[in-house]
Amino acid sequence: MRKYVNSHSGRAFGDRIWIIPFFASLLIFITLFMTAMFGLFSSPSGGEQLPFDIISFSKSEDSSGYFVEADLKRSLERNGASEMGLPRLAYLISGTKGDSHRMMRTLQAVYHPRNQYVLHLDLEAPPRERLELAASVKADPTFREVDNVRVMAQSNLVTYKGPTMIACTLQAISILLKESSEWDWFINLSASDYPLVTQDDLLYVFSNLSRNLNFIEHMQITGWKLNQRAKPIIIDPGLYLSKKSDIAWTTQRRSLPTSFKLFTGSAWVMLTRQFVEYCIWGWDNLPRTILMYYTNFISSPEGYFHTVICNTQEFRHTAISHDLHFIAWDNPPKQHPISLSMKDFDKMVKSKAPFARKFAKDDPVLDKIDRELLGRTNRFAPGAWCVGSSANGADPCSVRGNDSVFSPGPRAERLQELFQTLLSEEFRKKQCA
Ligand SMILES: *[C@@H]1O[C@H](CO)[C@@H](O)[C@H](O)[C@H]1NC(C)=O
Ligand SMILES: *[C@@H]1O[C@H](CO)[C@@H](O)[C@H](O)[C@H]1NC(C)=O
Ligand SMILES: *[C@@H]1O[C@H](CO)[C@@H](O)[C@H](O)[C@H]1NC(C)=O
Repeated sequence: MRKYVNSHSGRAFGDRIWIIPFFASLLIFITLFMTAMFGLFSSPSGGEQLPFDIISFSKSEDSSGYFVEADLKRSLERNGASEMGLPRLAYLISGTKGDSHRMMRTLQAVYHPRNQYVLHLDLEAPPRERLELAASVKADPTFREVDNVRVMAQSNLVTYKGPTMIACTLQAISILLKESSEWDWFINLSASDYPLVTQDDLLYVFSNLSRNLNFIEHMQITGWKLNQRAKPIIIDPGLYLSKKSDIAWTTQRRSLPTSFKLFTGSAWVMLTRQFVEYCIWGWDNLPRTILMYYTNFISSPEGYFHTVICNTQEFRHTAISHDLHFIAWDNPPKQHPISLSMKDFDKMVKSKAPFARKFAKDDPVLDKIDRELLGRTNRFAPGAWCVGSSANGADPCSVRGNDSVFSPGPRAERLQELFQTLLSEEFRKKQCA
């Protein structure tokens, strides 16, 4: 500074060169002094400027206003059966190497402009396949216009029985929460799942359901199973290795938890926005504690949400024990469900379930489902939102109409019957028991 002033302003200011730094220092000093005084005097009365949650904390020692549990209860009441706007769904469709075409087919079969979609191809899939998937999403004019389909750019290494699967699901939910504030339910599908009803059927039936119902098949782990399931400690290498390998079992065993009960069930879930916000935001510590506990639990995707929901007073009465899937098992059951084919078609229809799994890639029964259950002849399973002409095999969904209008088909009635059963007094007695 001094050097600069000296060389440029010459001798004229030479002997009064201290004046500029002096006034600058004085100015800074006065500013600091005033700030300090202002801060000192205003802080006791500055309460009005504090954020709302701090006020409620200081005032609510004896009221329940501060506690998140109470907030939850209030929001549940607010969003209960009284609110009957038309629903929106948020789907995660996940797959691995070689699944991109199947994922696209499942996506098209469950597509509706009201909904949100996230696709995740795990790290086993080569980058080229992920780029292709992203390119085919981008190339679809409807997806581009409505802008409700996203391919997760970050690809996770996922161990199917490990906590990395839950982490990936939670990440997808976070993306869906961030990208859209409008949806009501989160649904988890894989590339080998397929719908048995149209989205018009599903949305029509769900418009009459309370927005706080979670569909999550569950049962408490008891007896000898408890020792077998809860004592072993596993490690998911997907948490720290860059290449997929199987879950590792340690020789150590741990004691059974006493601060919460363990539940298990199907890894396929349909969860309300409120419940997933509860899990993601973590205002209450339980979802986080249980997430950490499940890091070393075998088959954690079959237990995490189940244990959280059944140990939370505000949500346990919202858990309906059904996964909305038709899944067939060998007798006695093997580790994986059987692949569905033509011979299972009638059983699928009879089940009234909105989804089924698992299907082999391009199994002929999928064409039968397209033809007979979904009416899918072009890209999408059509709905009332498709208002274009279908003459000469044209795609009626290339012209988009009002997406708040549904035209439910005969499958909607069966679906409604399923929900009547699920919501019956008798069925609900078994909640979290
Ligand atoms: C979600 O869906 C996938 C299918 O890709 C499944 O393997 C997983 O366990 C599901 N559930 C959870 C809680 O992540
Ligand atoms: C909703 O419920 C009412 C009364 O129970 C019924 O009349 C109506 O048809 C139902 N609508 C749908 C979309 O299921
Ligand atoms: C779409 O349909 C709904 C229900 O019939 C109606 O209330 C709404 O006004 C329609 N919106 C448009 C843009 O036509």
